[in-house]
Amino acid sequence: MTRPDVLLTAPIIPSVVEKLDARYALHRLWEQADQTGFLEAVGPRIRGMATNTLFGKVDDALLDRLPALEIIASFGVGYDNVDVAAAMRNGVVVTNTPGVLDDEVADLTVGLLLATLRRIPQADRFVRDGGWQNGAFPLSPTLRGRQVGIVGLGNIGKAVARRLTGFDVVVRYHGRTPQPDVAYDFHATVVELARASDVLIILVPGGAGTTHLIDGDVLAALGPNGVLINVSRGSVVDEPALIHALESETILAAGLDVYAHEPKVPDRLKAMANVVLLPHIGSGSHYTRAAMGDLLVDNLAAWFATGQAMTPVPESVQG
Ligand code: NAP
Ligand code: 8YV
Repeated sequence: MTRPDVLLTAPIIPSVVEKLDARYALHRLWEQADQTGFLEAVGPRIRGMATNTLFGKVDDALLDRLPALEIIASFGVGYDNVDVAAAMRNGVVVTNTPGVLDDEVADLTVGLLLATLRRIPQADRFVRDGGWQNGAFPLSPTLRGRQVGIVGLGNIGKAVARRLTGFDVVVRYHGRTPQPDVAYDFHATVVELARASDVLIILVPGGAGTTHLIDGDVLAALGPNGVLINVSRGSVVDEPALIHALESETILAAGLDVYAHEPKVPDRLKAMANVVLLPHIGSGSHYTRAAMGDLLVDNLAAWFATGQAMTPVPESVQG
């Protein structure tokens, strides 16, 4: 039987590439010097695409070159780089990898919060640089007594909230709709949540609906003792407004895993002592990336075997 042609847009983890190679006629887009010519040659045969959330846009311009495409399997839970409406117009299902990364990303989020408040990376640098020989490390802010606001109480937000319950802090949240089955206080706007909180953790999807949801007004409402933690997408935070708020001490500190123009991180952020910067590693353990890879491979396999994907994104299902 002929193996379906699958386009891999960017390198994922080796185990995924091996599994895809074993099952499909796999075409590696990123290895091609002339991607336009390559797509002209193989595009009409491509039935599946494996991509990741860090690949550029999957939009009409790319889909037009793939007239036989049936499925876009994305490696990651966020899929803001995929134009799902365009995919659906072309009858293409989109899948992501929800659920299998919640605990890993939640662990990292809590770690980033503690690192930011207790200045753990700064203290590590202090020891390495010999600063301890000249005196004690300065006292830090604390998590004790804080009100933690979660913007986006979804799968990962709930996993973060569960962990924070063990830290004896108050958790509140904002989303587009209140969730009757959760015990945390709901706030109808982000500004209201920020006003009631002194930690704001951002866990909404990226995309048009959340662009600059966290702006100067939200940061002003968070206040001078406030800490911003962003593990969602750089697009959700107005980065220049955040830099201004940190420099002018409108807020106290920030812990960031994501940025507006990755992998570029503004020099002004790097220069600040009250900021902890991570290189988009929320799900980045061997264990969790393998689970995400397996789910991507399973989505493609299920689609080609049965015409049903395992984890289509909600818009794909709702139509
Ligand atoms: P999820 O289960 O879909 O949860 C998203 C939450 O955001 C929902 O509770 C939703 O509630 C809320 N929301 C959506 N649009 C909103 C809006 N416009 N305003 C306010 N709230 C909104 O998603 P998840 O699995 O928890 O993942 C969340 C995001 O984390 C992903 O989309 C991805 O961008 C990011 N992420 C980052 C990493 C990393 O490595 N840094 C790893 C994994 C995921 P309502 O529907 O009630 O509004
Ligand atoms: C990864 C992510 O960085 O799942 C997401 O939305 O942002 C992360 O898990 C990404 O999927 C790697 O491609």
